[in-house]
Amino acid sequence: MPLMHLHVISCLLLTQNVASLDQFEDDAALVKDYVLNHYKDTFREPNGTLAHPYLVPGGPYSQSWDWDSVFTGLALLDLGSAPYLAGSMKNFFDQTNLTTGEVTICVDPTTTSPSCSSDPADNQASGSHAKPLLIQGALVSADFTGDYMQFHAYKDKMASLLKYWEDVRLDTTTSLYTWHDQMENGADNLVLSPCPSPRSECWNDDGCANSLSAPDLMTFLIREHLAYAKFLDQWGEDGGDEERSKAAEVAKAMNDELWSEKDGFHHARNVTSGSDIDFATYVLGFPLWAGEGAISKEQASVIVDRLMQPDMLGNWGVRSTSSENEFYNNDDIITPYSNWQGPIWVNSNVITAYGMLDHGFDEEALVLVQRVMAALAADLRDTGEWHEDYNAEDGTGISADGFLSWNTLGYRMANDIAKQVNPMKL
Ligand SMILES: *[C@@H]1O[C@H](CO)[C@@H](O)[C@H](O)[C@H]1NC(C)=O
Ligand SMILES: *[C@@H]1O[C@H](CO)[C@@H](O)[C@H](O)[C@H]1NC(C)=O
Ligand SMILES: *[C@@H]1O[C@H](CO)[C@@H](O)[C@H](O)[C@H]1NC(C)=O
Repeated sequence: MPLMHLHVISCLLLTQNVASLDQFEDDAALVKDYVLNHYKDTFREPNGTLAHPYLVPGGPYSQSWDWDSVFTGLALLDLGSAPYLAGSMKNFFDQTNLTTGEVTICVDPTTTSPSCSSDPADNQASGSHAKPLLIQGALVSADFTGDYMQFHAYKDKMASLLKYWEDVRLDTTTSLYTWHDQMENGADNLVLSPCPSPRSECWNDDGCANSLSAPDLMTFLIREHLAYAKFLDQWGEDGGDEERSKAAEVAKAMNDELWSEKDGFHHARNVTSGSDIDFATYVLGFPLWAGEGAISKEQASVIVDRLMQPDMLGNWGVRSTSSENEFYNNDDIITPYSNWQGPIWVNSNVITAYGMLDHGFDEEALVLVQRVMAALAADLRDTGEWHEDYNAEDGTGISADGFLSWNTLGYRMANDIAKQVNPMKL
């Protein structure tokens, strides 16, 4: 029955290409089958410094990562991932310093000071803090099982995680929040930062650290406050309204400071130099996913238009960086960072599609999902496995042979689109 509905929206949209729904069904079936045969490779039992079961991305990555865990856990809920998702978040909460709110972007059973690199020889500990997504990850698991109380013991850790951003990453002049570096945001070499991270030779802590504000971070923070509010409500505790007000403040700063009427999307900003960074990258789609009322209907509409322009939307999904950007490429890069200067990434496309659903852009959401599904299916036909990113021009897999992680969203994304509901709606 869901596919019937897809058929209706698909016909509305793709009258010039009616064969593609059949192709989509074939692609989705192949992808689902692959997930069914491999999803358990992402599940890990408690080990070493990690007291709870957890999720790993597969391929070259054996650590438990912040956003990989959240999206893999979401993807595999119907296959039993809830305790692994809950456990992954609990492992991060366990390793959060209660006083400072600090925790790294990955955790590893062998250490409390992980390197967070795809290259095991790279022992440099990560200076990157986990994305403000952990409370949302806990909420996905709690919403699925109805067990909110399992996280009650982590209330103070959640509060200190949120306070960390206010204490360390708030630019008080603009009320914008900043990434420490581009590794932290997960889009390791994205063109927003000329000097992406401490792994780059050009890095200089004084100028570069905590200089980049961007709509992806503002969106994560809006959602993280809303997720914490929901936990407080569920626990029968006060404070939910205060968290919702904080979410609204973050949204206001994002719109006041970063929105560009001229370009039709939120810019990034270097808060150190005070200059706007107006490159079109996938992060321009994130505010669609920011939750109830964060952006206006008009903003949503122009953001969607911008994403559907041919420099952003290719045959395999929305590019990580516009094809018109001077740094645009689809090179096979993974060490010291993965390539976000052009290739298609499944997680960003699915987040964007979910955001589109929140604003009623169901047809556009379907286009994104159909196209990344096509890339995932083509990879299985060609190589029998998945990669972490896809060449935006020909759809071939690029790096990290055997990657699973958020590509497993292929298991559920057609159904999510058919239901027209963002499963992480806040
Ligand atoms: C625990 O982690 C170590 C180090 O990564 C690994 O060698 C070992 O196989 C793991 N044990 C289990 C039971 O997963
Ligand atoms: C938490 O951070 C503080 C300040 O840096 C430090 O003194 C303390 O040892 C840390 N606590 C733990 C458990 O690492
Ligand atoms: C921001 O500007 C400072 C100083 O001008 C520079 O050192 C830093 O690399 C810039 N950061 C970004 C993200 O552009």
